[in-house]
Amino acid sequence: MEFTIKSGSPEKQRSACVVVGVFDNRKPSLSADLVDRASGGYISEIIRRGDMEGKLGSTLLLHNVKGTLADRVLLIGLGKERDFREREFRKAIRSAVRLLNETGSYEAVVYLTEEKVKRREVAWRVEHAVVVAMEAVYRFDQMKSQPAEVRRPLRKLTLSVPQRSDLAAGEAAAARGLAIAHGMDLARDLGNLPGNVCTPTYLAERGQALAQELGFKCEILDRPQLEELKMGSFLSVTNGSDQPPKFIIFEYNGAGKKQPPVVLVGKGITFDTGGISIKPATDMDHMKYDMCGAASVFGAFRAVAELKSKINLIGLIPACENMPSGRATKPGDIVTSMSGQTIEVLNTDAEGRLILCDALTYAERYEPVAVVDMATLTGAMVVALGHVACGVFSNNDSLARALLNAGEESFDRAWQMPLWDDYHEALNSNFADFANVGHRAGGSITAACFLAKFARKYDWAHLDIAGVAWKEGKEKGATGRPVALLTTWLLAQEGAVS
Ligand code: BES
Ligand code: MN
Ligand code: ZN
Repeated sequence: MEFTIKSGSPEKQRSACVVVGVFDNRKPSLSADLVDRASGGYISEIIRRGDMEGKLGSTLLLHNVKGTLADRVLLIGLGKERDFREREFRKAIRSAVRLLNETGSYEAVVYLTEEKVKRREVAWRVEHAVVVAMEAVYRFDQMKSQPAEVRRPLRKLTLSVPQRSDLAAGEAAAARGLAIAHGMDLARDLGNLPGNVCTPTYLAERGQALAQELGFKCEILDRPQLEELKMGSFLSVTNGSDQPPKFIIFEYNGAGKKQPPVVLVGKGITFDTGGISIKPATDMDHMKYDMCGAASVFGAFRAVAELKSKINLIGLIPACENMPSGRATKPGDIVTSMSGQTIEVLNTDAEGRLILCDALTYAERYEPVAVVDMATLTGAMVVALGHVACGVFSNNDSLARALLNAGEESFDRAWQMPLWDDYHEALNSNFADFANVGHRAGGSITAACFLAKFARKYDWAHLDIAGVAWKEGKEKGATGRPVALLTTWLLAQEGAVS
């Protein structure tokens, strides 16, 4: 989809559709009011009759409204004016775009970006309108033999800003939103692909293609190199699989050579059966999403490279399958990680931490400003925070704060969890340096504690995205989270260090 920014009156737009808001309590927004006046009170009459009451997300499509130059006028309910915040703004945009995409308008001018959102400037509104619009028209049909065709899909959205002086900021914001949306689309596509297509080898190939397209470096390490690096923990997870493991390394240089990089690490389990500690059959298909951490690294690189951001960024993706077999790692096996620390694998289903820990050790060589890992790590995280926020764990509170802020800003929200020493005891082992699992209680925290043992040499944060990386039910599919959070955080680093 294409986006442009414009400033001007709604009644004077030559367009297939003009989109204006109506607040609950039957109050037309400023732009709806302009259309109303031009049409001799047509909108207020509709509102008075009760056909559009302004309930958040409701829609009413009008044709040939007198006094206007557009073919259609779309009214969108905005809810109560004093409750109109980030969430409500995004919901209004979402219902507008869904409706436009289903009806005949291939193009529209949206005035909702002129509505005031508490604490948020016009740039925020434009950026989010773009991200939400792209999210709303996303579909994944590359695996269908006959993709369902949208008759006249929405091709172009013009977003209106209040003043001509807002145009420049609006355009920059739209570019940012589009880059984030492209990153999210990529992460969603990779997440939605089934495990028999999206193998470690496939991910590596897509990584190389992405790097080539956007002009950054990509290196792939294969089993012999991983053995040489002594990544015994990572390799223990791949033992049961016939698919070869891959370690994908991205390197994007947008700042001076001397500037230390940020390192992103993504869990790339392309399918998690649980291994010998095998999972129950119900919903096991969800475990194709167990590479969504890796997909978010792809997405963040896509966005950052598209915006030619002035930062240095490294991406590390350990990718493999977790399968049972005669060669698979068994409960009780003891493995030696790249750090030299030994691990008693009490449960082969706690495999994410086993592949991430070696990537975290590998990250040391970059002397990074910060390392952030993303992983669909624990079911316990879903129990704790549901599908709204991901969990943030960090050994540095200001890093955690910065990530939480980026989450608020991008509405890709996160919530901080503790990493206190008290939780570490759960990992004690009589046979190795520690075990790979603790008790059921506080499962997402003990998982993070495990990772912390490999992230002692730098500022580090871990995002447990198990609850937010995909949706179930009618809208089943990958969400592209936390690409928006990551990109927002990374862009905020531009110029922060020099
Ligand atoms: N990939 C799963 C975590 C997961 C499970 C995410 C369900 C989303 C939904 C991870 O590898 C896993 O299996 N974790 C175990 C850890 C346990 C064995 C300590 C879990 O959460 O049950
Ligand atoms: Mn598992
Ligand atoms: Zn897993």
